[in-house]
Amino acid sequence: MKIIEANDYQDMSKIAADYIMKKVSTSPNIKLGLATGGTPTGIYSNLVADHRENGTTYRGVTSFNLDEYVGLSGTDPNSYRYYMDHHLFDHIDIQKENTFVPRGDMDNIQDGCAQYENLIQKRNGIDLQILGIGENGHIGFNEPGTSFESKTHVVQLTHSTREANARYFNSLEEVPTEAVTMGIGSIMKSREILLLISGEQKREALKKLFTGDVDESFPASVLKNHPYVTIIADKAAIGDLKVHS
Ligand code: F6R
Repeated sequence: MKIIEANDYQDMSKIAADYIMKKVSTSPNIKLGLATGGTPTGIYSNLVADHRENGTTYRGVTSFNLDEYVGLSGTDPNSYRYYMDHHLFDHIDIQKENTFVPRGDMDNIQDGCAQYENLIQKRNGIDLQILGIGENGHIGFNEPGTSFESKTHVVQLTHSTREANARYFNSLEEVPTEAVTMGIGSIMKSREILLLISGEQKREALKKLFTGDVDESFPASVLKNHPYVTIIADKAAIGDLKVHS
């Protein structure tokens, strides 16, 4: 795992956006894996600003999002489809039909999971996967204990994850209890992974990632087994951890 140190959240977002823009410019048909949550919003606003100012085009890009809440339709402002449209897709020239977010409102959610997994493989997999990390080490919504072999599946969200995400809802009770997520095995098939870590509240997670064992009790630790991972972390997340040996 290679790590790039950023000064702060803005700097991390800019470095990550530049990294993605360069990849999109050199590989116009790139397949991106995208994340939601607080961490990537700064990246997306940088991509939108660059598209407006410099015209970087996304016409050939395909995207697959990591996850979606069960029970929310794509028009619900708390759904991740809505988030992606609002923060990115509606402001760049990506073809909407080439943007995929798992469906949380299907009648047969298990079939939906299998279809999503097949779709990614049918399109020959993800070239560059963007990831955030939960304070408990989750990636996507793969909570501690999830099998490293897992494919797209339905998960029960932990209390801590629901609490962390309650800031987007009116109350904790409104936060869905289940989500669809790409599995850890699905994520590991990506050819390259870019992991973003920002803020003091993620310091323990970053430390565990660097110093702990590869173990299913800390999902992100699996990334140590991936051949091509770049972490962009800011000073607040790094703290006094020695990230370069
Ligand atoms: C979001 C996702 C999650 C988040 C993680 C961190 O699509 O898959 O794993 O990346 O929960 O969330 P933030 O960025 O809000 O701290």
